[in-house]
Amino acid sequence: MNNILRIAIQKSGRLSEDSLKLIKECGIRFDNGAGKLKTAATNFPAEILFLRDDDIPGYVEDGVAHLGIVGENVSEESARNVETVHRLGFSKCRLSIGVLREHDYQGLKDLEGKSIATTYPRLLGKYLKENNVSAQIHEISGSVEIAPSIGLADAVCDIVSSGSTLLSNGLKEVETIFRSEAVMIASKHLSEQQQELLDQLLFRIKAVQVAKN
Ligand code: PRP
Ligand code: ZN
Ligand code: MG
Repeated sequence: MNNILRIAIQKSGRLSEDSLKLIKECGIRFDNGAGKLKTAATNFPAEILFLRDDDIPGYVEDGVAHLGIVGENVSEESARNVETVHRLGFSKCRLSIGVLREHDYQGLKDLEGKSIATTYPRLLGKYLKENNVSAQIHEISGSVEIAPSIGLADAVCDIVSSGSTLLSNGLKEVETIFRSEAVMIASKHLSEQQQELLDQLLFRIKAVQVAKN
């Protein structure tokens, strides 16, 4: 078991397609039958695990997966003890604060004493603290953008990519607190063989990236 690499990628979501594509472009072949949560590569000593992105840093920290592809936002928020070994350049997005479009927003001080709904309490808390704003963080696990329009919170802090989710929920982006892209994270407890396999994989990934530029 310590001479294969287990690579965790997102099962379905914004990183899935590009994560799979990257692995394939590295020449690693596997069949991913629909609904399969684990598959073995046929020409490289690796297994691919298909997981919820938010769970990936924890699996990598525990060494259950050796590598993971996640958004930096997810990795940072998790505060797990993992190594970021490479930036992958896809799934770029930002973590931003949004308020109702009709709100005449003047600046961060407007958030003083307000409530902000988010799935990123850690990153948001750090940002507010650094900027000396005391606001109430209301942690929810999804559909954050609905919160202001139903009176659940005054503002939101969530991932923005195209901006269409904000727009369709009557919100506008007022502060960007973190810029993110997909990164490869690794366990800090790799065997010597696994470290060698990781080096081979990183060599291939860099070659793929160079070919694209
Ligand atoms: C993010 C975020 C928004 C949406 C924004 O969710 O929570 O819902 O994407 O993207 P847009 O600006 O292009 O509309 P994500 O896809 O990361 O899924 P998750 O929150 O379920 O992990
Ligand atoms: Zn997620
Ligand atoms: Mg979402």
